[in-house]
Amino acid sequence: MDAIRDTYDRVIDYLRISITDRCNLRCVYCMPSQGVRHLRHAGILSYEEIIRIVRVAALLGVRKVRITGGEPLIRRNLGYLIADLRSIPGIEDISLTTNGQLLDKYADELAAAGLTRVNVSVDSLQNDRYAEITRGGSLPVVFAGIQRATLLGLTPVKINMVPMRGINDDEIEAFARLTLETRYDVRFIEFMPAGANDFWTADRVVSTQEIMERVGRIAPIDPIKRRKDGPARYYSFAGAPGVLGFISPISHHFCGSCNRLRLTSDGKLRPCLFSETEIDLKSAMRRHVPDEEIARLLRLAVEVKPQAHSFADRPDADKRRPMSAIGG
Ligand code: GTP
Ligand code: 5AD
Ligand code: SF4
Repeated sequence: MDAIRDTYDRVIDYLRISITDRCNLRCVYCMPSQGVRHLRHAGILSYEEIIRIVRVAALLGVRKVRITGGEPLIRRNLGYLIADLRSIPGIEDISLTTNGQLLDKYADELAAAGLTRVNVSVDSLQNDRYAEITRGGSLPVVFAGIQRATLLGLTPVKINMVPMRGINDDEIEAFARLTLETRYDVRFIEFMPAGANDFWTADRVVSTQEIMERVGRIAPIDPIKRRKDGPARYYSFAGAPGVLGFISPISHHFCGSCNRLRLTSDGKLRPCLFSETEIDLKSAMRRHVPDEEIARLLRLAVEVKPQAHSFADRPDADKRRPMSAIGG
């Protein structure tokens, strides 16, 4: 099947699926300390419903799916979902974005089920600080998980780091140096004003330009060739085994090459991380509509995908859903 294109001629072949809005951490940039209100169990898509959506999406040209949360590894029997997704014709890449707290425990099962690769959030390389930023996480267990995932070939393992001024920005160089010794992709993400997050302030944002300048002072970095299929731009130190990535939602519009749709855990299709437009697939499915109707709603989401997002006119982004309920 041919890939589907949106109004701005972008190929949409990537679906990000949040399978739960719950999380075992409370990262400061994502959630308030008291946590957020959760959806009721019945409000969450079942694995059968997710599989049905992906089956139809694959017929429309979706090739890649990413499982996100909240924290996806806290949902039971994730291996079953991965194995079923693996068996859908057309789906080539199944990746997972996780905080890594349970990665060591589940990596073997997920690799056996057919998971392709993992992205792991790590915002500090210091145990105490990591525990503070995540409000209770353990850094050593994350690295045990990363090492296990690497051994199992769930690669490239991408490490996502969100530098925040005065909080962890003094570790930018240490993160960059990881790529001198390991094959990890270390990606720096500009701190975004995500919904329900009063921790965000403009002066806490460290721009990609500043990060690149600081990293470049360690040693020169050069762009590397990678198929452009996401928001990150990739560089490396000469001869280094690892790769540096920069994701710049604040300073740089990568919307022109955006290839994705999002599915929230309660079954809403979101054409863009930062548009409040949502299309209710769950209600349609629970009315037992035929596959053609699911396909129509998927096409509609592609059709209404905005050309770009801007934080300039909406610095508060979407207040209705915290980042954990959208899946990043
Ligand atoms: P790869 O396929 O491995 O490149 O994954 P990814 O970068 O798309 O996924 P990941 O879940 O690791 O996301 C990394 C960061 O990029 C997160 O902070 C996301 O919120 C951000 N991000 C991903 N897609 C978009 C997008 O469409 N718009 C914006 N503004 N940010 C995005
Ligand atoms: N700004 C930037 N990145 C964020 N993430 C979560 N909240 C924010 C935010 N406000 C990132 C996490 C995770 C990814 C899915 O989203 O670090 O790696
Ligand atoms: Fe959980 Fe991820 Fe949000 Fe941290 S960023 S609280 S790990 S959903």
